[in-house]
Amino acid sequence: MREKSQKFIRVNKHSFFAFILAGVTIWLPLKNSWAQEFNVPTNPLKGRFVLEQKGCITCHAVKGDGGDIGPDLGQNKFYGSFLQLAGIMLNHAPEMLSRMRQLDLSYPEFTKTEMMELIAYLYYMRYLGEPGDLYRGKILVKEKNCLACHSIADKGGNLAPAFDKLGKYVSPLYMAQALWNHGPEMEKQIQQMGLKRPKFEKNEIVDLSAYIRKASQSPKIEQVYMSPGNPRKGKTIFKQKGCLDCHTMQGEGNDLGPDLTELDWNISVTEIAGLMWNHGSEMSAIMEEQQLEWPSFTGKEMADLIAYLYFLKFTDQPGDNEKGRNVFTEKGCVNCHGEDALGGEFAPDLSTSKSVVSPIDMAQIMWNHAPVMEERIAEKVMEWPEFSGSEMRDIYAFISSLTSVKKAAKDQR
Ligand code: HEC
Ligand code: HEC
Ligand code: HEC
Ligand code: HEC
Repeated sequence: MREKSQKFIRVNKHSFFAFILAGVTIWLPLKNSWAQEFNVPTNPLKGRFVLEQKGCITCHAVKGDGGDIGPDLGQNKFYGSFLQLAGIMLNHAPEMLSRMRQLDLSYPEFTKTEMMELIAYLYYMRYLGEPGDLYRGKILVKEKNCLACHSIADKGGNLAPAFDKLGKYVSPLYMAQALWNHGPEMEKQIQQMGLKRPKFEKNEIVDLSAYIRKASQSPKIEQVYMSPGNPRKGKTIFKQKGCLDCHTMQGEGNDLGPDLTELDWNISVTEIAGLMWNHGSEMSAIMEEQQLEWPSFTGKEMADLIAYLYFLKFTDQPGDNEKGRNVFTEKGCVNCHGEDALGGEFAPDLSTSKSVVSPIDMAQIMWNHAPVMEERIAEKVMEWPEFSGSEMRDIYAFISSLTSVKKAAKDQR
């Protein structure tokens, strides 16, 4: 059985969206031009452990579980790329420091691995999206005309398997896969019946699958199996299934379809599945014209592919070092590190830094030195720097340009 060989995770219907992600391998898709390649840890659940260990849960809950001084971190929020998340964390260091003093807690320092794991975990929060809504699902099976062919509790059509028997399609991803695979077939039938091909928005696939799961007479309804994807494998699948015939990725492929790295990916896995489904019609038209074969997926392949797409936004795009130089000045880094970061009374010359070789290093060092910064900033009555948008990546670009300029000069000597 295919299912057996995969790492499935048992989830009961109440904790459907509790963090069920053990065994997930995460990998970071990279832009070739972005030299700072780094690997994301193999399991974002480790980040959950870091969150507990570092005392974040004293103030933050994750899906209701933990403190309530700061916002719940499990609210399906998309915080941004790696460095954007690092910036968000750093922005709240003073607030956090002052609360920590009140609570008599000590400031948590991070190793690089811990920093990476924690941020990967925060990035992952949006992955599963909202839990399904049974009531909406019930409306959707009618609205989307599923019941023209399928039936549920003896109501509906008999052109397709009854939903009651689909216990195994309980996970939204399997649903997405089933829909995808029978897409072209279904489209033909739908046209013959004079109906419209359904489109899916937002959480609709999750709602549908929640309802079908509920209605399923399968004895195993209490258990939902969800196979989280492996982005690294997903990258291979993206190639294997011919997505590159129409999409460009990291310089490869064609541009009949949009560049998928340009899309707003502030969406969950099933929303991505919905987008894929929605373009199936257009895609199959082009494919027929070009005599390409419709790619089918196993459930695991679909999960991996979508995990790959989901993680496309984790890696930062290259920053702009000139902008970074300005940000460095504006945010008061110059007050300690000196003009052009060449060193000052209080802080080292960053152009000779050997520690900042990747965005992770920078995130880690900046986080760890927040208490020192706080002290100096208080003495000098300056404002705490807040980062947003591309500022962290621009600073990173600036600092790495310094070291490479130095290095180039040295090489020439
Ligand atoms: C002493 C309490 C406290 C601790 C400990 C703490 N935080 Fe916070 N955090 C807050 C407060 C208060 C806010 C909201 C105000 C703000 O953003 O300054 C916040 C905001 C955040 C936000 C932005 C949330 C949002 O939805 O806008 C993130 C992300 C975050 N914290 C991550 C962390 C991480 C990771 C840790 C552990 C390293 C941590 N926090 C530890 C109090 C804390
Ligand atoms: C025009 C008829 C038609 C419509 C409308 C239709 N389906 Fe299907 N569906 C089929 C057929 C036929 C199959 C069986 C395909 C096969 O076995 O390859 C199927 C298979 C499936 C399966 C997999 C079942 C299995 O055992 O493999 C799922 C899940 C599914 N449909 C969900 C839906 C949902 C959800 C909707 C509404 C959004 C929908 N279908 C609308 C005809 C339809
Ligand atoms: C035959 C050409 C073709 C192939 C092959 C193809 N696509 Fe597309 N894709 C398109 C076109 C054209 C669009 C934009 C039109 C649309 O959104 O309906 C698109 C849009 C998308 C979108 C949604 C973009 C959005 O803004 O909504 C996603 C996601 C996507 N493709 C993923 C894939 C994946 C994954 C594969 C491989 C399984 C794939 N595509 C294979 C042509 C193709
Ligand atoms: C209050 C003074 C102060 C300010 C302001 C300050 N830093 Fe630092 N920085 C230090 C000190 C002291 C060190 C070395 C000790 C340490 O790592 O904690 C350091 C180290 C660093 C390092 C690591 C250098 C190495 O080779 O280890 C980086 C990167 C860095 N800072 C970036 C920044 C950036 C970016 C800003 C602006 C947002 C900034 N710093 C603002 C004092 C400061």
